[in-house]
Amino acid sequence: MTETLPKAQRAWVLRRTGKPRDVLQLEEDYQIPVPKNSQILIKVHAVALNPGGWKAFSVPPLSFVHKTPAVPEFDFSGVIAGGTLDGTGYVMGQEVFGISPFEGPNGVMKVGQGALAQYTVAEPATFVAKPSNITHVEAAAFPIAGLTAFVSLVNHGGLKLGDGKRIFVNGGSGGIGSWAVQIAKAYGAYVVTTCSPESQSFVNSLGADGTIDYRSVQPSLSAHLASAYSTSKFDLFFDTVGTDVSALYAASPSYLKPDGIYLDIAGAAHIMDSVYSALTTILGMINRTLRPTFLGGTPRKYLPITFWATSMTNELKESAELLASGKIKAPIDHIYAFEDALQGYDRQMSGRSKGKLIISVSLP
Ligand SMILES: NC(=O)c1ccc[n+]([C@@H]2O[C@H](COP(=O)([O-])OP(=O)(O)OC[C@H]3O[C@@H](n4cnc5c(N)ncnc54)[C@H](OP(=O)(O)O)[C@@H]3O)[C@@H](O)[C@H]2O)c1
Repeated sequence: MTETLPKAQRAWVLRRTGKPRDVLQLEEDYQIPVPKNSQILIKVHAVALNPGGWKAFSVPPLSFVHKTPAVPEFDFSGVIAGGTLDGTGYVMGQEVFGISPFEGPNGVMKVGQGALAQYTVAEPATFVAKPSNITHVEAAAFPIAGLTAFVSLVNHGGLKLGDGKRIFVNGGSGGIGSWAVQIAKAYGAYVVTTCSPESQSFVNSLGADGTIDYRSVQPSLSAHLASAYSTSKFDLFFDTVGTDVSALYAASPSYLKPDGIYLDIAGAAHIMDSVYSALTTILGMINRTLRPTFLGGTPRKYLPITFWATSMTNELKESAELLASGKIKAPIDHIYAFEDALQGYDRQMSGRSKGKLIISVSLP
């Protein structure tokens, strides 16, 4: 079943890979995706940018396998506009938020039907009903960044409601870090995070119990953590920055409890910086993950986390409840008009955004 659709749609389209300003064009008559099999057609109201969005079509080796022409981006909030709804529990016009998957047979990399358009398609396993008391902008801000934080802390880190864990978030002002601080606080954890002086008040507003100015810490963050937290160690170290993993992990016995975990979501992001970076990143990850302590390995668990969002409905539903209850709130850096999406990419690529960058597609 499909509502009466226009003949074509407005969409940001790349017809070759490269940097956003070089390859993205706003097209006025792009085809509307036809949902296949279990896919559902979504009329998009708001989209969030993520670092993985532009990297997927700009930076080799990912960009070598990116399909073109393609509509980029993954995070959306919108309403159901078509597809086979029987047995899904959804109805036409229902408000939903989630992810147009990155990989897999219907993933954006493979079929090119991303979220930065008036219409997108997604599998029911990657979206959930939007709580009526949050806006499309707030809902779109959550999926990839919020789920990465949620899955890392709860599924991998074992965070449980009220267990009073002590958590360090490296990079509390970023898209992922700002959700991580809030999710950890909503679960009753004690949270310390790094941020710059410019991000201090923003991070305080998220509920962080302590902050460290990463720009002025001497002689290094790892040395500072080792001396400042040797008698009050953390249960989890959640690294969303990834630029100094080797030193931070090597020092982790000084600031992480014996059963503490170093959760790394950003180390692999630097694989694409250069060939040297790729080699050192891969070798470093293998070393940290596999080297036993009797051969000189660091006696703390190291978990590199890759988030693919193929089926995350339980985690999304639980997060939707946290959003609906107001225990976590969308941290919005800026909302851009659809026509101004390239400005959003400039800000995303600067690495200075505080919270999430949203593109308004057609807000009701
Ligand atoms: N593993 C996975 O599955 C997965 C999933 C999604 C994303 N990622 C990766 O995770 C990383 C973080 O993503 P994101 O969306 O949070 O990025 P983001 O929003 O672009 O992060 C920007 C923020 O980082 C802060 N920052 C920069 N350098 C810092 C430092 N040395 N210490 C502390 N904070 C610093 C900046 O604050 P100031 O401007 O105030 O310095 C800014 O607020 C990216 O590399 C991304 O590719 C991984």
